[in-house]
Amino acid sequence: MTEPRVVLCVDDDPRVRELVRLILEPQGFRIVEADTGLASIQRLRETTIDMALIDLQLPDVMGYALAVFIRNMTQYQTIPIVALTGAYSAELIPWIAAAGFDTLLQKPFSVQALRAIVHQSLDVKRSEPARAVTDPAVELRYLRRLSREMAHDLWRYVEELNRKTVLLVQQAKVIEEIIIYTIHSIIRILETNEQYTAGHSQRVGAYAVMMGRRLGLTQEELRTLELGGTFHDLGKVGVDRCILRKPHTLTDEEWAEIRRHPALSYELLVEIPFLREVAQIAGDHHERYDGKGYPCGKKGDEIAISSHCVILADAFDAMTSHRSYRRALPLRHVVAEIERCTGTQFHPEVAEVWLRELYDRGEAILEVTHRQFPIGDVETDGRPG
Ligand SMILES: [Fe+2]
Ligand SMILES: [Fe+2]
Repeated sequence: MTEPRVVLCVDDDPRVRELVRLILEPQGFRIVEADTGLASIQRLRETTIDMALIDLQLPDVMGYALAVFIRNMTQYQTIPIVALTGAYSAELIPWIAAAGFDTLLQKPFSVQALRAIVHQSLDVKRSEPARAVTDPAVELRYLRRLSREMAHDLWRYVEELNRKTVLLVQQAKVIEEIIIYTIHSIIRILETNEQYTAGHSQRVGAYAVMMGRRLGLTQEELRTLELGGTFHDLGKVGVDRCILRKPHTLTDEEWAEIRRHPALSYELLVEIPFLREVAQIAGDHHERYDGKGYPCGKKGDEIAISSHCVILADAFDAMTSHRSYRRALPLRHVVAEIERCTGTQFHPEVAEVWLRELYDRGEAILEVTHRQFPIGDVETDGRPG
């Protein structure tokens, strides 16, 4: 039994495609349908066709362009291609010939007309490629018009692609904001449970950004720094809550448990692709400039400058908040402590810009930041912030 011959029918009107199917299938043809030029190209990848019926007015490309495309495929240089049009005019003839169509069938067509044109076209054995234009002037005019139309189509595709890209970027931004909001919520819950750290994360983020601005970081770097500062203690969600809330002195094992939190912050955040740099800052916030910090003992420039900002901001907030054995330290004591630890715990350049800020307007910085993110009333035991 011979394989049925395959006819590609390209028309955006489903009634036309159905009519072609109803007329030709009983005659032993298999009909492959497409409603656009792009859908046609997809069908041509999937199926080998023996003939094509193509509407001249498709929603995405001109039928002429599709005919040219098909004719440029080596295996389809000699197959019959019939143009379908509801707007026949004699002027179309040279254009359809130039595009590589064999003939034209006017819509609406009769059952007999379609059968006749399909049988006739398939019965004519062709030895030469179909595309043959006798008048070079017609071909030139045709090609110019075709290239204009194709350029127009291309421009439409580019616009559509840009529109969809903008939409995707917007959606990705929304998802990022939801993730950031969720982490903020986790930290707020954590700080609400541990009242002594109320507002700590946000104040650290705010101080770190002030330092970053003085160091000339870009807007994008400042945003990363703010998140790094705000999320630095996220890993405390993985630390035993009883230890976090323990009112008296901790054992060595308990300190070791608490000291896991920077590494846990890193592990939680690094899984989120757009927060990888934030993860690094959070993971390094208990490192020291002289390499005597934890968890890795990194030193100097092995630690990013933004991490050095958070290291200093974290210590600064710890000193300017209440502890169980003391009230918040007076600013002059804090300044003296930062001066003392410059080059050991703190990066000299970061400490220098922050000290200059504190000399100029330290009290105002504290007042504004504590008003925005109030410090907890409950005094605590000075475990690492
Ligand atoms: Fe910490
Ligand atoms: Fe902290």
